[in-house]
Amino acid sequence: EMDEQERVFQQRIDEGIKIEAKDWMPEAYRKTLIRQISQHAHSEIVGQLPEGNWVTRAPTLKRKSILLAKIQDEAGHGLYLYSAAETLGVSRDQLLADLHSGKAKYSSIFNYPTLTWADMGAIGWLVDGSAIINQIPLCRCSYGPYARAMIRVCKEESFHARQGYDIMLSLCRGTPEQKQMAQDALNRWWWPSLMMFGPSDALSVNSAQSSAWRIKLFSNDELRQKMVDQTVPQAEYLGLTVPDPDLKWNEQTQHYDFGEIDWEEFNNVLKGNGPCNRERLRARVKAYEDGAWFRDGLVAHAEKQERRKAQ
Ligand code: 3HC
Repeated sequence: EMDEQERVFQQRIDEGIKIEAKDWMPEAYRKTLIRQISQHAHSEIVGQLPEGNWVTRAPTLKRKSILLAKIQDEAGHGLYLYSAAETLGVSRDQLLADLHSGKAKYSSIFNYPTLTWADMGAIGWLVDGSAIINQIPLCRCSYGPYARAMIRVCKEESFHARQGYDIMLSLCRGTPEQKQMAQDALNRWWWPSLMMFGPSDALSVNSAQSSAWRIKLFSNDELRQKMVDQTVPQAEYLGLTVPDPDLKWNEQTQHYDFGEIDWEEFNNVLKGNGPCNRERLRARVKAYEDGAWFRDGLVAHAEKQERRKAQ
């Protein structure tokens, strides 16, 4: 049963009062927030890699500058979220060490390759579209620093989704080959985008507690359903076919029924056996090691400043 402190804490949560960094919180609340916020930050940083592949291959200068702006936003979201995680008493170095050692997760979606320019459209439309559906509720989550970070992130994310859909629209209104490229990208990104929302509610180990603490305001399956309902009409407008033969509008429920997710593929990617897991982690470790000289320089400079002040 709860002791008095936990009872007061839960009462604040239930009343929708934000928990701030200096407030008392159960150790498990702190731990699950560090877990989720740091993995969210890792996702933003690793998420730059698939798109980075197309910066030098963008078809026009306009598309190149938009893609660069998006990738720069993702970096900013990552740093914003690392800072939110640090308010819970963890160091940036520890969080990065956990990513580089494979101990910490990042979103499965970033372990897939980006094979054509249409993938830039599908990622903006489907991946950022899913991220928005997941992140809007997080603006109202119980932990103050995380909720506030999400408000800024969501504003920039909607630009990411719109530019992605714009790429898909251009391709679908282009030559038959361009439309086929868009269809091929939809075929490859549709199911992995639905996996972003996590395992089914029945198999979700964290959902019950995260919901009680108002970290998770909607379940994995509820947000996944919202993504399907929102996206199918957009695919129809593009003249594209969603790669799910079981997809069917259900008049009773006013939702789309859709096929079974390949949970074996999902679990495989989480275990590190996705198409690009090793390549993504290698790129992050290399970037970190290549930046060591710069970090060392910053520390040496700071220590010299300290010594000067002490004189
Ligand atoms: N990829 C990798 N791991 C996943 C996952 C996915 N798509 N979905 C679930 N998992 C992991 C969970 O992290 C958990 O493992 P852990 O306990 O070791 O952390 C396990 O699978 C069980 O899943 P649960 O549903 O029980 O876990 P959560 O309650 O944490 O729910 C979540 C998972 C919905 C991803 C939740 O953590 C969340 O909302 N995270 C914040 C948002 C986020 O990370 N979004 C994905 C990144 S997309 C992005 O930010 C980039 C964008 O700008 C393009």
